[in-house]
Amino acid sequence: MIVAIDGPSGTGKSSTSRAVAAKLGLSYLDTGAQYRAVTWWMLRNGVDVNDPLAVADCAGKPVIVSGTDPAAPAISVDGEDVTGPIRTQEVTAAVSAVSAVPEVRTRMVEVQRAAAAAAGAGIVVEGRDIGTTVFPRATVKIFLTASAEARAARRSGELGGTQSVAVTQAALAKRDAADSGRTTSPLAKADDAIEVDTTDLTLEQVVERVVNLVEEKRTAL
Ligand code: DC
Repeated sequence: MIVAIDGPSGTGKSSTSRAVAAKLGLSYLDTGAQYRAVTWWMLRNGVDVNDPLAVADCAGKPVIVSGTDPAAPAISVDGEDVTGPIRTQEVTAAVSAVSAVPEVRTRMVEVQRAAAAAAGAGIVVEGRDIGTTVFPRATVKIFLTASAEARAARRSGELGGTQSVAVTQAALAKRDAADSGRTTSPLAKADDAIEVDTTDLTLEQVVERVVNLVEEKRTAL
């Protein structure tokens, strides 16, 4: 059982994916955290993140290990816990460039497929290309959306109000454009994904909706 949850930033993907996994007794994988971890490694090692050849050269070096417990999703690089450091603005600003490099994506997709193969009952995988590229035959595919204003307000809230909603909205728009416009597996809705607009829904409502969709699919299997 693979539940693919894709969508742009600020649509509630992480909160929804974790809650759905916990409710259904499934594992959880945050693929965005993996791209962030690779980016963190590149910055730490002085690799020019805007030089795709330099990034490609190092794509195989960082050893990324992702925890798959929805209650405590931790991530490490070369044995160092980077769960906190991957959320800095520096990493956020550089992650789209790093994740656009095909060698990085090939490597991460291998790691993601291995994680799913190791998950017992099944796994909820969140990202940008899960339903289109990583698991094109996922049991259920969800594509979350929300208005630009709602997404910026949520992300600004997560940052504890340290960044204004307007600045956050501009940064999100820039990252979405890069993530949607790249050549290799861009952010996209799979043809058979179910779109859920979260703009006017609470987290509980979104989770209920997704859990119901998964249960329906489970019964039909
Ligand atoms: O979900 P997030 O904001 O933590 O993701 C960080 C970045 O990683 C995002 O800007 C695009 C990239 N990403 C990706 O290219 N493919 C994925 N499956 C997940 C994330």
